[in-house]
Amino acid sequence: MFARSELLRAISSALENERSVALLGARQVGKTSIAREIARQRGGIYLDLESPDTLLGLSNPLRALGALAEQHALIVLDEVQRLPELFAVLRVLIDRSPRNGQFLLLGSASPALLRQSSESLAGRMHLIEMAGFSLAETGADTLHRLWLRGDYPRSFLAGSDASSFTWRGNYMANVVNRDMPQFGLGLPATTLFRLWRMLAHYHGQVFNSSELARAIGLSDTSVRRYLDVLTDMYLVRQLQPWFANLGKRQVKAPKLYLRDSGLWHWLMDIPHLTSLLTNPKLGASWEGFALEQVLRHAQPHEAYFWATHGGAELDLLMLRANQRVGVEFKFADAPKVTKSMRIAIDDLRLDALYIVYPGEQRFALEAGIELVPLSTIAPPN
Ligand SMILES: Nc1ncnc2c1ncn2[C@@H]1O[C@H](COP(=O)(O)OP(=O)(O)O)[C@@H](O)[C@H]1O
Ligand SMILES: [Mg+2]
Repeated sequence: MFARSELLRAISSALENERSVALLGARQVGKTSIAREIARQRGGIYLDLESPDTLLGLSNPLRALGALAEQHALIVLDEVQRLPELFAVLRVLIDRSPRNGQFLLLGSASPALLRQSSESLAGRMHLIEMAGFSLAETGADTLHRLWLRGDYPRSFLAGSDASSFTWRGNYMANVVNRDMPQFGLGLPATTLFRLWRMLAHYHGQVFNSSELARAIGLSDTSVRRYLDVLTDMYLVRQLQPWFANLGKRQVKAPKLYLRDSGLWHWLMDIPHLTSLLTNPKLGASWEGFALEQVLRHAQPHEAYFWATHGGAELDLLMLRANQRVGVEFKFADAPKVTKSMRIAIDDLRLDALYIVYPGEQRFALEAGIELVPLSTIAPPN
């Protein structure tokens, strides 16, 4: 097992401070593995709601869980999206005892998709979003592998690039054949694959729902719903535009990214590093990968992109406390300061602008603009 000590610490500390904690993320990012570890450490019991036996044992959930709660310090409930009726019961149990760390819930969809959970457990549950491995976990010397294969543990740790690629193909088949229908996205698999390949082409771009709708034969509204659900399944990121209070015309549609670079490479048929480094979409791939890693590292309160119809743009604007930090992602040995960057600094009143690139040296290019290797977010090996 690959140690994920920072994440373990964050979950443990949340359990110390809240009655219940929800660990949410896409399938296969490692939720069950880490939750079993926590259950071991804390004398907890683990229940999988995808197992028919468990469901049978929970036919009277209030009684069954009430009895378990008396015997175990912690109850882990996996795949909670399978049994949303349970949330009302959990609420009763949580209110019965003031003790912290009673429940750890795991789910493969955001609270927006688990509507009943957010309603019945509002204010009683601490949410932790989880993805696959971060660069900080795998180390700076694995940057190319993490970028190419993506952050799902099985894909990253596969014996070869080829078997990693096959694993990702199977993962996408499960998304299309099982997970999307489970969340109400019920088009035929061939149509869903076509949708995914089109989404992959929009990676890193402002997304035009009517164009996509026409190509796929759905209404505008349906396409947007599909995207929202995929976003809530933690597979797609929609970065919203920032509106500065300016006279300029600014872009108002979200930018679209596939969250996992490895799945994107599979959809774009980029199986190894050579094909990635010679691919015309190399820049978009770098932008998406570095964006996810930077967001996980910086954990801003809010994140946006910015673009004007005049051509000025900024890949990422992060707001945290009173700081406004801009980030540009450039796959180049020696990125240069551009006019657009200076406009972004002025118009958005940035405290700093970082250019995140694949090189080794960190240094200021001019006042307020710094070149930063992506690998600096990982501890030195
Ligand atoms: N820290 C880790 N080190 C190595 N393999 C891992 C790690 N975490 C998860 N895995 C592997 O990844 C796969 C998915 O993990 P799992 O915990 O089942 O994810 P989830 O519950 O999010 O679907 C499993 O095969 C598991 O063994
Ligand atoms: Mg699991």
